[in-house]
Amino acid sequence: DPAPIDAPAVLAWYDRHARDLPWRVAPGDRARGIRPDPYRVWLSEVMLQQTTVAAVRSYFLRFTGLWPTVFDLASAPLDSVLKEWAGLGYYARARNLHACAQAVLNEHGGEFPQTSVGLQTLPGVGAYTSAAIAAICFDEQTAVLDGNLDRVLARYYALPVPVREAKEELRAALQASVPSRAGDFAQAMMDLGATICAPRTAVCMLCPIQPGCVATKTGDPTLYPIKPVK
Ligand code: ADE
Repeated sequence: DPAPIDAPAVLAWYDRHARDLPWRVAPGDRARGIRPDPYRVWLSEVMLQQTTVAAVRSYFLRFTGLWPTVFDLASAPLDSVLKEWAGLGYYARARNLHACAQAVLNEHGGEFPQTSVGLQTLPGVGAYTSAAIAAICFDEQTAVLDGNLDRVLARYYALPVPVREAKEELRAALQASVPSRAGDFAQAMMDLGATICAPRTAVCMLCPIQPGCVATKTGDPTLYPIKPVK
C-alpha cells in the first residue's frame, strides 16, 4: 500500500499559511468552535467549479451580500440570480444553484443535509461538491479529490501512469490519510495544490509533505502527472 500523507504536517502548515478566503472560518474562530456555514461553503464550491479563487471572491461577496442565507437565495427571482451570475459562465449551474436553494428550503427544512450521501441528493451537487461540504462543515472523514489534488498525489507517489488509470488508487491513498480535522485537511490540500504544488511550478522547499514525496526525490515533480497518450 502507498504511504499515507503526513496529515499532522499538512495541518500544522495550514494553521500558519491558510489562505484568507471569505467562506472560511478564521483560525482564531475555529479554535473557539465556530463552524463554517454550509450555505457559504456550498455557494463557494459551486462557483469554484469553473472559476479561479481570485475571480470567485468578488462574486461570492456580492451574492452573500444580496442573499446572506439559503432562505434569501431561494426566495430571490431566478432572473436576478442569473443576472448576478453573469460572467461566471455556464448558466445551467446558476439554475441548479437556485433549484438547490429551494430544495434545501422545501425538502430539508432550510438546513443542508450533514452527510455527503445526503448532500448528493441536492440539484447540482455531485461527488466532489458533496464531499467538500461534508468534510469542511461537518468533518466527515471523506477524501475530497479534485483535479488539483490529482496533481499533488500523482507527484507525491510519482505515479507511473496517467491519473485516469489510477483514480481509485489515488482516492484510496487520500482516504487513508484523512485525519479527524477532515475539513481543514481538505482545504489545506487545496491550498497546497494552488500555492506550492502548482501546475507549472513546485516549490518543494516550502512543502510540508516534501519528506514523503517521491517525485521531489527522483527529479522534477512537474513531470507528473504523466500525460495520457491520446
Ligand atoms: N477550490 C475549491 N474549493 C476550494 C476551497 N474550499 N478552498 C480553496 N480552494 C478551493
